Amino acid sequence: MKLQIFIILMLLLVNILFVGAIVSKDYSKCEGSNNIVTHDASKEEVEVKKTTTTTTTTTTTTAAYFLMKDIVNDDEIVVKMTNQNEIEYARSIIAGRVIDNIQLVGKINAGVQPWNPNWKYYIEPSSIRFISNSHPECNVTYKYLEKNLRLACRAFLPKCYWCPSNTKLLREISF
Ligand SMILES: *[C@@H]1O[C@H](CO)[C@@H](O)[C@H](O)[C@H]1NC(C)=O
Repeated sequence: MKLQIFIILMLLLVNILFVGAIVSKDYSKCEGSNNIVTHDASKEEVEVKKTTTTTTTTTTTTAAYFLMKDIVNDDEIVVKMTNQNEIEYARSIIAGRVIDNIQLVGKINAGVQPWNPNWKYYIEPSSIRFISNSHPECNVTYKYLEKNLRLACRAFLPKCYWCPSNTKLLREISF
């Protein structure tokens, strides 16, 4: 009888410790999750919220630069990204973690940028998204766009959206 009670107490203790570990793990992972409430979680919660806020503030202001290649014509351009979700998505594409929706689309602007010095145009960083397929109306090669830049957004590339097919994100670079 005594032994049984002892075992039950031990099991309870292990259970409490185990659940406690999971709960604190989840706190560090889930941003904005506040549906887990434990007896002494109030302190933790405040701390986690603080960390989350700091992380968000620093990451949204950090730009990332990627080398993108026209695999048919062997041309390379540099794209700058400022949207944190798209930056993480681009990193996943390069790491091979995603294979769907890997077609880059963005609005082009005329002008040479220091981070993309070899071309007379660049993709507006905040406009970059990833879609499933290149569409004919936004698909021209890097060279074609360079040659016909004055007609872009009018004769071709409606609303300046560019989604070059045969394109691969090669790697992240520092600038
Ligand atoms: C995009 O344009 C290139 C070059 O003209 C062409 O080779 C490719 O087939 C086109 N892709 C799509 C999906 O329209």
